Amino acid sequence: NPSFNIAIIPGDGIGKEVIPEGLRVLDAAAKRFGIHLEYKHIEWASCDYYAQTGKMMPDDWKQQLQGCDAIYFGAVGWPATVPDHVSLWGSLLKFRREFDQYVNLRPVRLFEGVPCPLANRKPGDIDFYVVRENTEGEYTAIGGIMYEGTERELVLQQSAFSRRGTDRILKYAFELAQSRARRRLTVATKSNGIAISMPWWDSRADEMAKNYPDITVDKQHIDILAARFVLQPDRFDVVVASNLFGDILSDLGPACTGTMGLAPSANLNPERLFPSLFEPVHGSAPDIYGQNIANPIAMIWSGALMLDFLGQRAAHDAILEAIKQVLAHGPRTPDLGGNAGTADIGMAIAAAVAG
Ligand code: NAD
Ligand code: IPM
Ligand code: MN
Repeated sequence: NPSFNIAIIPGDGIGKEVIPEGLRVLDAAAKRFGIHLEYKHIEWASCDYYAQTGKMMPDDWKQQLQGCDAIYFGAVGWPATVPDHVSLWGSLLKFRREFDQYVNLRPVRLFEGVPCPLANRKPGDIDFYVVRENTEGEYTAIGGIMYEGTERELVLQQSAFSRRGTDRILKYAFELAQSRARRRLTVATKSNGIAISMPWWDSRADEMAKNYPDITVDKQHIDILAARFVLQPDRFDVVVASNLFGDILSDLGPACTGTMGLAPSANLNPERLFPSLFEPVHGSAPDIYGQNIANPIAMIWSGALMLDFLGQRAAHDAILEAIKQVLAHGPRTPDLGGNAGTADIGMAIAAAVAG
């Protein structure tokens, strides 16, 4: 039987509420498909751990995670006690960088039974991927504050785009587009205003496009691209973007399909030199924590993406089918207009997976 070691990191807030539901569904899939999942439960990478120790993770965090096949991650962040840049640079962003998870794959899909905030859209009209560069770009800690505390205060924050880093995310996106029926790739850019990095990013895309004559490539400035997510979501198939642009698009996409509570993500090191990490797109949602109303489907779908990456396609498909069934006919959490609790959804999906 296939066997995998999974590190489980709930983190903060609703991360702690949706992880148990994700595990419930993973267990149901593992049982049905004869997969052995060995869990290593981790308490650090949380603001609770920070409160006790003054740091987000123990010094040997990398050794502790290195041997696992994947990381199943809830959400980190509790800004009331730890500044966000401290908690996130001390955990999630460190994993993405140190484990070279340069692809952040974020599906956006409208499901049957989910009220769509966009007028006249039906399932099938919205079905695309945001492929977000995940290790460089606008996310850096390069820079500083000069003349601090004076009228002359000046803040410099450097972006960083390497040729290797840009080419590998473009290549991943072109190949994903090749696997899709429509074979369309939209490249998010801003080459009018951001006068150095973005024209360069465009030229790397043009260069890469020569290797993929079967792909229809469409470069769009990020501003109008965002508008078209709302006005013409059916024109998108695969969208590739820098780290920050991809971050924004991957909240906007799920907003157009009903709720943040559905959106999963896969932080991938495609070469499998390091463990990949699977997490919802959403965060720790302090505003709803403790009320048992968080939608666990983003966490559950992320678990399906994890099984797919581990070669367990049938288990992935069964979980996705169960999600579809429950969204169409089952209970729903308040973000989708229902009054079910977090665990009700987890149990309904687990039951559908068990068959
Ligand atoms: P958030 O995604 O946590 O919440 C945004 C809004 O969406 C809130 O109103 C919340 O209630 C709602 N929401 C989110 N997930 C939901 C779910 N599963 N079901 C129902 N409603 C849901 O974003 P935020 O408020 O900007 O951030 C809160 C904290 O989370 C911050 O510390 C932030 O840095 C952190 N964060 C972490 C991650 C991560 O770990 N990957 C991602 C985003 C934000
Ligand atoms: C996400 C989150 C993170 C990001 C934050 C929490 C640093 O918003 O995973 O989308 O910006 O990448
Ligand atoms: Mn985000």
